Amino acid sequence: QELQMNLEQIEKGGYEHFMLKEIYEQPNVIKDTYRGRLLANSGIIQMAGIEDNIEKFLNADRILIIACGTSWHAGLVAEYIIEEFARIPVEVEYASEFRYRNPIITNKDVVIAISQSGETADTLAAIKLSKEKGAFVFGVCNVVGSSISRETHAGAYTHAGPEIGVASTKAFTTQITVLTMMALRLAKAKGTISNSDFHRYLLELEVIPEKVMEALQTNDISKEIAAIYKDAPNCLYLGRGYNFPVALEGALKLKEISYIHAEGYPAAEMKHGPIALIDEKMPVVVIAPKQNHYDKVVSNIQEIKSRSGKIIAIVTKGDVQVKDLADHVIEIPDSSDALSPLLTTIPLQLLSYHIAVMRGCNVDQPRNLAKSVTVE
Ligand code: G6P
Repeated sequence: QELQMNLEQIEKGGYEHFMLKEIYEQPNVIKDTYRGRLLANSGIIQMAGIEDNIEKFLNADRILIIACGTSWHAGLVAEYIIEEFARIPVEVEYASEFRYRNPIITNKDVVIAISQSGETADTLAAIKLSKEKGAFVFGVCNVVGSSISRETHAGAYTHAGPEIGVASTKAFTTQITVLTMMALRLAKAKGTISNSDFHRYLLELEVIPEKVMEALQTNDISKEIAAIYKDAPNCLYLGRGYNFPVALEGALKLKEISYIHAEGYPAAEMKHGPIALIDEKMPVVVIAPKQNHYDKVVSNIQEIKSRSGKIIAIVTKGDVQVKDLADHVIEIPDSSDALSPLLTTIPLQLLSYHIAVMRGCNVDQPRNLAKSVTVE
């Protein structure tokens, strides 16, 4: 028993929980993910699974992304990035829905299956179905040699290392890293991105680990905010564009480990329902980095404020406008719009982690949840 405890302590590397350790591993594992694939100075992205099958991607009528849980959220981020850069139509679907609804799949489709464990039953079944219909199936998995990595025609590993905490953290950001590299690689092959933009994104991706490291410095402020809202019964997460999926993921993290009811919404959809929930007791986490949709998000924040909602805003360092309106701001480093999910996600992970710890929850093994869902 004692030996077992000591072993676990060692595995946690000085952190109180695996989840926190895995959150802090992100700068390093993102580097592991792009190592050998992203050669920023030479202006090259090379990924074996893509190089070998580039024609399949270039000839595809569309890309279908299938996944579950957090991996599905990474798929939504990928939809925005792939469509933006590579101009290939993308659809993202829950594997469980896809497999049972007689979907239209042809041999002109490329299916990307995203799975940390590579063992999720619904995702595996959706892959088999896609193969039967003649689609080319590409896997984005973390666990090497997993069922999904073997069942797919080709793929790219995320190289996040073992993820023990049931709530996914580093798997999510490394999935986004792989999918972003894929989008850029395909855009380059298709000629849908200018050379200068391509190069700029490569250089920015290369320094993302340092920015993630900086984003981790929001730990203290996240903890302070957690102490204020730990007893809230509900919480709303809002974001637009690339940060809409991040809002969904932020809400999922909070639900999973703290058992607080949380919902993620595209900020503009708030007026179609969730705004009715807002009063002085409702914390609203708004992802508002200073990019594309900034002004729109600012007006969403004003709407929340005029209804006395409590605003916790994720903003770009140096922001003044949102700081004036929000009850709390968490500052993250500046980045381009497309890469912002890699940074905005970090404080949301920390926020839910601290809330769950303060509520006395079993952070690494939340009730009723499994790390990989191998049955339907
Ligand atoms: C479970 C896990 C989640 C994960 C989801 C999909 O629900 O608790 O963290 O996102 O399965 O798992 P996968 O291994 O396919 O990414």
